[in-house]
Amino acid sequence: MGVGELSCEKLSKDYGGKGSRLALDSVTLSVPSRGIFALIGMNGAGKTTLVRILGTQLEPTSGTASIDGLDVMKDAGRLRELVAMIPQEGRTVPWMTPMQTVSSYLLWRGVGRAEGKRRAAEALGKAGAAPFQDVLNRKLSGGQRRKVLVAAVLAADARVTFLDEPTTGLDPISRRELWASLHEMAADRFLILTTHYLEEAEKLADVIGILDKGRLVGIGSLDYLRGLVKYQYSVRVQPGSSVPDVGDGMVTTGRDGQTQVLTGEAQAYELSKKLLDAGTKFSVNRISLDDVFFHLVQSEFEGDPS
Ligand SMILES: Nc1ncnc2c1ncn2[C@@H]1O[C@H](COP(=O)(O)OP(=O)(O)OP(=O)(O)O)[C@@H](O)[C@H]1O
Ligand SMILES: [Mg+2]
Repeated sequence: MGVGELSCEKLSKDYGGKGSRLALDSVTLSVPSRGIFALIGMNGAGKTTLVRILGTQLEPTSGTASIDGLDVMKDAGRLRELVAMIPQEGRTVPWMTPMQTVSSYLLWRGVGRAEGKRRAAEALGKAGAAPFQDVLNRKLSGGQRRKVLVAAVLAADARVTFLDEPTTGLDPISRRELWASLHEMAADRFLILTTHYLEEAEKLADVIGILDKGRLVGIGSLDYLRGLVKYQYSVRVQPGSSVPDVGDGMVTTGRDGQTQVLTGEAQAYELSKKLLDAGTKFSVNRISLDDVFFHLVQSEFEGDPS
């Protein structure tokens, strides 16, 4: 529970309700409180629950958690001063403009008016919301409103920033622009984000945590997580082509007819040679976070028939 880290010790959350499983089930972790920590997992895995507990918005049922030595329960007041959050279901006030939204948020956080305006303008630019900063929120599209919330949290420039699905609803270009801003911000801050875009976690995060039905099934760098999976290489073979036997590997065929073979380095090498000789189109890559995710989450499914 030291300075310079985020740590959770047997953190659990039970929302109650008959027969319901724990939303968070004894999560224990410790990661450096700098850079970007991404949480991934299926709907209902417990990402928002964990983020809300760490952001002092929700009390755990049992266990402890702290950021930089500040306990989320005992030191909640002091922790709140360090934290800014954009909730998954965050809404903008319809009758305000983006500029007013961000400025008033900063005012509420104790930033002076002039400084607030300057920071609001800068953050609206970074979030890609500058072109519509003086239009009423109610006239904006869903993705544009999301950008306003992102701008508010960027403007807060907090030591610790929680972003629960910051890029959901953003178009592909805006998403990439936001990645650049988050990356820049993470240089001297700590960002905790959740996402369903695994490419986002792969590109941005220093540490990735995988939640499955309230349990943490993997945590570490992408390379570390790859190491949890038996096969390190993915060979994709064009639909309709025959796939030579690989010996040790896992072969799956998608609905598009494309076959994926997960296998070891030596086998991937042998397989590539055979496919080349046969003139078959194929690609070979190290496994992606997608592959790791499906492997870890699926094996949990197999062990748990519920
Ligand atoms: N306020 C609540 N009351 C009761 N149960 C809840 C509440 N919020 C969440 N849950 C339950 O807790 C579990 C975890 O939910 P949580 O919102 O943390 O998931 P998530 O990983 O953020 O999912 P998503 O990707 O859909 O946002 C789910 O089973 C959900 O039904
Ligand atoms: Mg959520």
